Amino acid sequence: MEIEACIFDLDGVIVDTAKYHYLAWKELAAGLGFEFTRADNERLKGVSRMTSLNILIEIGGITLNDEQKEKLAAQKNAQYVSYIRKMSPDEILPGVTRFLDELKAAGIKTAVGSASKNTPLILERLKLIGYFDAVVDGNKVSKAKPDPEVFLKGAEELAVHPKNCVVFEDAPAGVKAALNAGMECIGIGLPENLPGAKKVIPGFDNFQLSDLKKIVHE
Ligand code: BG6
Ligand code: MG
Repeated sequence: MEIEACIFDLDGVIVDTAKYHYLAWKELAAGLGFEFTRADNERLKGVSRMTSLNILIEIGGITLNDEQKEKLAAQKNAQYVSYIRKMSPDEILPGVTRFLDELKAAGIKTAVGSASKNTPLILERLKLIGYFDAVVDGNKVSKAKPDPEVFLKGAEELAVHPKNCVVFEDAPAGVKAALNAGMECIGIGLPENLPGAKKVIPGFDNFQLSDLKKIVHE
């Protein structure tokens, strides 16, 4: 393959929003009368809002109808938005901006591929709007990861063949989505959590384009 584009998941790759998702879900669970732990929160990474709610109520042993679920998902999102509205560019994870600049200088296209419907607000708060050649988020896709739709749309918007795209992902469902799209995938986090990734790195601190080329071409 020839690296022509890099597609970045947002939550957990560009910024650590998991802590805000966790707080908002925890408060919702408390209101419903049960405890939601950090370990439980791991199950929600990369998973869509409604699927997250379904997992949450399963943990609490609660059954709800669709209308009640819609209401609770909206309530959780309002709380989550109240946190992310206060975010600033210093919350961009270490090395991300430098790596994006390096890609840009090398003529490699960049995109965001995220399940989150809050992607535009987050990119605005991080002052990263306009940094990417394409943004595909939860507002543009109908099938959640591990379906490849989000990454295939990204490749299409960039006019790059999927086989020449590298995806950066922190969630198992996202790694699967990248592989389903026929793309290379670099995991962000711990190798034991991200089977299928070509390589797992802790983050972008000290990570250069030359490192990426070595991984992809080895
Ligand atoms: C993913 C997060 O990026 O977006 C999930 O990892 C989240 O935790 C999903 O549920 C949907 O996000 P939002 O902002 O549309 O509720
Ligand atoms: Mg993620």
